[in-house]
Amino acid sequence: MKQSSEPTSPSSARFFVLDGVDGCGKSTQARRLVAHLEGLGRRVEHLREPGGTTEGELLRELLLDRDSDLSPGVEALLFCAARRQLLEKRIGPCLEAGVDVVCERFHPSTFAYQVFAWGLPEDELLKMLHTWAGSPEPHLTMILELPVSLAVERRGAATDRFEDRGAEFQERVALGMKRYVELCPRTTVGVDADGDEDQVAARVAQAVQNVF
Ligand SMILES: Nc1ncnc2c1ncn2[C@@H]1O[C@H](COP(=O)(O)OP(=O)(O)OP(=O)(O)O)[C@@H](O)[C@H]1O
Ligand SMILES: [Mg+2]
Repeated sequence: MKQSSEPTSPSSARFFVLDGVDGCGKSTQARRLVAHLEGLGRRVEHLREPGGTTEGELLRELLLDRDSDLSPGVEALLFCAARRQLLEKRIGPCLEAGVDVVCERFHPSTFAYQVFAWGLPEDELLKMLHTWAGSPEPHLTMILELPVSLAVERRGAATDRFEDRGAEFQERVALGMKRYVELCPRTTVGVDADGDEDQVAARVAQAVQNVF
């Protein structure tokens, strides 16, 4: 598997990631971005993590199940496994076929949850993600930045074992997302997600325009 940081898509297709804390607007903005790209005449696949493959959906069930008793290290490995499956089975083939990919969640979530919220070593976790789930690399990763209090208001009641962990946990996740932008500035940007849906969509479209 390729380990360098250069995007590998042989076509003009682009791979975009939207990430950020629970309830920040990822799904909303992913739908908007898909519509925006389709409006430009592009073909687009909308994916979410973990999942997007038969095996990845099974791992998603296990990871999000409130009855699962997984240690932080096992969580990290399972997220990485689901991601590699998605990269090999869906994302790579899409890009090769000239289809853009918009994916909700990717490395920043794993980094933020496992390192910032659970305390796994930063360099080892990044190395694992970039080695075992490093290709194809997103052309642009956008972190939707929203204060946790606003995200919680938008999101409503918790529905899985990650959302169950409460506001303090989410604050650490938000710090982890910021740290990821600092560590991977070449292809990662923060996008202000405070504003109405149209305002945020315009900021996302602006960020995306810069990679064409
Ligand atoms: N800019 C916005 N202003 C106000 N409400 C919004 C905005 N964007 C999304 N919402 C609403 O906030 C809620 C959460 O949005 P969304 O589901 O897109 O977030 P998410 O990041 O995908 O959440 P999750 O992490 O739970 O998957 C939804 O009810 C959505 O309609
Ligand atoms: Mg969502």
